[in-house]
Amino acid sequence: MKVTVVGAGAVGATCADNIARKQLCDELVIVDIKDGVAEGKAMDLMQTAQLEGFDTKIIGSTNDYSKTAGTDVVVITSGIPRKPGMTREELIGINAGIVKNVSQSILDKSPDAIIIVISNPMDTMTYLALKSTGISKHKIIGMGGILDSARYRYNLSKALNCSPNDLQASVIGGHGDTTMIPLTRLATYMGMPVSNFASADVLEKVAADTMVGGATLTGLLGTSAWYAPGSAGSMLVETIVRNERRLVPCCVALDGEYGQSDICLGVPVIVGRNGWESIVDYKLNADEQAAFNKSADAVRNMNEILSTLNL
Ligand code: LAC
Repeated sequence: MKVTVVGAGAVGATCADNIARKQLCDELVIVDIKDGVAEGKAMDLMQTAQLEGFDTKIIGSTNDYSKTAGTDVVVITSGIPRKPGMTREELIGINAGIVKNVSQSILDKSPDAIIIVISNPMDTMTYLALKSTGISKHKIIGMGGILDSARYRYNLSKALNCSPNDLQASVIGGHGDTTMIPLTRLATYMGMPVSNFASADVLEKVAADTMVGGATLTGLLGTSAWYAPGSAGSMLVETIVRNERRLVPCCVALDGEYGQSDICLGVPVIVGRNGWESIVDYKLNADEQAAFNKSADAVRNMNEILSTLNL
């Protein structure tokens, strides 16, 4: 099994670190455009192999995609991260060109690769990867919902004073501060509705904090977060390479599911060795469906900017 991570910044390096420690593949390639950075990070990580006890071979490459040939799964993290006060959407102009070029360069050498998109604005970058490559929709997955759901469980665990591991909770819709939808009605603590354990006001605040989870971290760190985004990326790699068929909220192409088409948006999907297999229907109530439609409108507006960018 061979995995490539494109972008050796904080998110890409964290993702690569997790992939190596979990021995998710025999060979892991890290690609970056900055001279020597991917090689340096690969060497640094390889020097943890004996300490961490893994046998994955990690190779760095400065923009030489021949080293990525035969990749089964690629994680695209490249592009600029947001600074405090910026929305993910403001990154579209620069990141669109990068994501389009990276997707094509990967597929030139590995036509069967499954593509995981982390670069922002993630829903639009996933749509761009789908439209610009023309590969099967099942092989293109945007990671955002896994990250947002992990943040949601963290916030819920603080409110309920419990372990995040005993919570089930999903965030669907877009990966944006105003487009994501934490599904409070369906969140459970070991199968019991979370509303049995916290007031509506508390749960509303938990949902609101979750929606600005990334922005809160950007404010604290001065740049966007990396541990949870990198970890969400490697979790998705894991469910693919181990064919776990996990049910995870991810950004995929909709063809009428959840009432939407010609858009990539976060919904619960089963992910295994061949990419995402199927979309599961949460049977949203009227309010949730209205929120989903509003999220789709915002993402669609963003997608329309792509045609003005001269890509
Ligand atoms: C975040 C970025 C990775 O939410 O979108 O932290």
